[in-house]
Amino acid sequence: MVALATEQVIDVHHWNDSLFSFRTTRDPSFRFDSGQFVMIGLEVEGRPLMRAYSIASASWEEHLEFFSIKVENGPLTSRLQHLKRGDSITVSRKPTGTLVLTDLKPGKHLYLLGTGTGLAPFMSIIRDPDTYDRYEKIVLAHGVRNIDDLAYSDYLQNELPQHEYLGELVRQKLIYYPTVTRESFRNRGRITDNIVDGAMSQAVGLPPLHPDTDRLMLCGSPAMLDDLSALLDARGFQASPRTREPGDYVIERAFVEK
Ligand code: A2P
Repeated sequence: MVALATEQVIDVHHWNDSLFSFRTTRDPSFRFDSGQFVMIGLEVEGRPLMRAYSIASASWEEHLEFFSIKVENGPLTSRLQHLKRGDSITVSRKPTGTLVLTDLKPGKHLYLLGTGTGLAPFMSIIRDPDTYDRYEKIVLAHGVRNIDDLAYSDYLQNELPQHEYLGELVRQKLIYYPTVTRESFRNRGRITDNIVDGAMSQAVGLPPLHPDTDRLMLCGSPAMLDDLSALLDARGFQASPRTREPGDYVIERAFVEK
């Protein structure tokens, strides 16, 4: 039985009708690695209803942050979306997950490829100084349907580059690549298609993906993970095996359980 903690909601932000994020208090003894997830939930009819959520906050921050979809009839998100400051939420004390820097071989460029709420674990990874120690450039690609699904884009473009401690590293090394599939935008199309036709490399100003130099983390729907894995495997990239031996790329399903 995994130990559970009760945390308080500090802040809730609604990005649009279908996406929101919220912050909670964090027990000072709770530790996690950037990119990991925890089970979080609410008590429903006397029992905890828990789902996996990637931690979007940095491992050094005093609070925890989570990024979620809203599903009208979803057992948990239909309730979570009404969270208010001061509400209680249950957080498991055992973080886990495969999107961790130590599962990747050394390399030159790190690509963080996320669709939808698959951005969440990368919000933590791009605020980990270790990420900037390990790689010369970090590309954060976020694929969404509509422009207003580009949660955190203002933070990524305007706030994080001015951050007191991380700002300089971010300005030197982080490349944000948002791409939109269902309306007009400066970058259009699925991440997969933009890799194949070269649009992503061109936009970020780096050479085409190659296993000699590039490492990747993938987080999205099962279909997105399948398509991207097939594409990478065909180019000679090796997924990090379950044995925990470092590989060229690691994957995790974006948690969209309702
Ligand atoms: P599309 O609009 O062409 O379906 P979702 O909200 O459904 O998870 O989608 C988030 C983003 O991921 C959308 O831009 C969507 O594009 C894209 N997407 C969906 N399936 C795939 C896939 N198999 N590979 C890459 N991107 C995908």
